[in-house]
Amino acid sequence: MTAINEIAPDLFRISVYVPAFDMQFNHFLVRDEEPLLFHAGFKGMFPVLREAVASLIDATTLRHVGWSHFESDECGALNHWLELAPQAQPVCTLVGKLVSVDDFSIRPARGMTADEVLTTGKYRYRFYRSPHLPHGWDAGVLFEETRKTLFCSDLFHHFGDVAPVTSSDLIEPSRQAMARLQQGPLEGYIPYTRQSEGVLRSLAELKPETLAVMHGSSYIGKGEKLLTELAGVIKDVFDRP
Ligand SMILES: [Fe+2]
Ligand SMILES: [Fe+2]
Repeated sequence: MTAINEIAPDLFRISVYVPAFDMQFNHFLVRDEEPLLFHAGFKGMFPVLREAVASLIDATTLRHVGWSHFESDECGALNHWLELAPQAQPVCTLVGKLVSVDDFSIRPARGMTADEVLTTGKYRYRFYRSPHLPHGWDAGVLFEETRKTLFCSDLFHHFGDVAPVTSSDLIEPSRQAMARLQQGPLEGYIPYTRQSEGVLRSLAELKPETLAVMHGSSYIGKGEKLLTELAGVIKDVFDRP
């Protein structure tokens, strides 16, 4: 049920496929001097995630637990990780910290502001605010500048128990997934705003070479092209009266 793959040096994708949703939930562990887990996962997944992390590092040495926006699949198990790893600190946008996290978390979060960098040792992570993308006022994405990996949360989500990594186009599976969710109770889950295109264009300008996708395959290739195309697809699907 849990699949672990090293998708880039020191970057492990821990994937749990949930058949009821036909969807993977992916969590990314960075093995470095100060280990980082991006996506704390649901509380219900914590036992299997803890086991997976413990197969890669001493889980009690985890130092940073980060995510994009305040939802249970992103940070539900945060406090379990903080209890397990006494040095671990939550990492999210400043909006996330002020609006939700410091009330929810057993330890205060590091609220990342524009241009602030988190260093784990060998790697440097910069948080970019992305309000309402994929959704949530507090949303942000994390970009690793040395290897050019973008942790893009729900952007590019797609269905199926798919391969850990792909170099084929993710646009079509993402378009289909968005269209499918628009037919059900989660309709409207990506608000299209006047800022959406600009946020995606600024992420494209980072020229990521790996896209670490929360639900579906991660992508290795020209992330700039995909993010530029995604802006058009999101407009097509969500900019509706
Ligand atoms: Fe989400
Ligand atoms: Fe998600």
